[in-house]
Amino acid sequence: MARRKVAILISGRGSNMAALIEAARATDYPAEIALVLANRPDAQGLDRAREDGIGTAVVNSREHKSREAFDAALDTTLKSAGIELVCLAGFMRVLTADFVNAWRDRLINIHPSLLPLFPGLETHAKAIAAGVKIHGCTVHLVRAEVDSGPIIMQAAVPVLLGDTPDTLAERVLTAEHRIYPLALSMVADDSIRIVDERVVVDDPPQETPAQTVISPLFG
Ligand code: GRF
Repeated sequence: MARRKVAILISGRGSNMAALIEAARATDYPAEIALVLANRPDAQGLDRAREDGIGTAVVNSREHKSREAFDAALDTTLKSAGIELVCLAGFMRVLTADFVNAWRDRLINIHPSLLPLFPGLETHAKAIAAGVKIHGCTVHLVRAEVDSGPIIMQAAVPVLLGDTPDTLAERVLTAEHRIYPLALSMVADDSIRIVDERVVVDDPPQETPAQTVISPLFG
């Protein structure tokens, strides 16, 4: 099967972008990272993408008067690069329903919580404040409502005594880097189907996260 052409949309450091780039180096990975696009010219991830020889683009959100105009420019850039799948990776822009619908089931996001818990920002602080003992991250298909849509994959990590939002974010980020490439490969090789707005996996990848996470840990 031909490798699917993927664009990664970033706003900042791009560590998830780097994990996707790394995974796509494997010749049997079903997607190639054809473009890294940022909505700000100073997004740090752009340098890393350039170092890796990946095409980059900036669609500067400050240069567009409305969300509609920005999203139209985004769409044009993606289409002219022949992009088939789009991965949001720390992309700090809310996309219009028109854009989301145009890319339906080809637009993927990673969110640092076990959705539907803690949509929005500062998820790690929210998890600590809620006293949950297990937290994590979610890769999902994007729907118009922010941080919603069919869930492709999740990973759970324990919340430890004494965690701060930063220490918890670091633990979750490690899990993010593991599941985003797995989830993208499942979309790219068509091994998922969406039934009643839920993802059904026909052929789960070999490497699956641990089956049970119990927290607090005893032992
Ligand atoms: C990640 O935690 C991601 O889940 C969230 O924003 C953060 C981006 O980090 N959407 P990075 O730019 O991928 O390092």
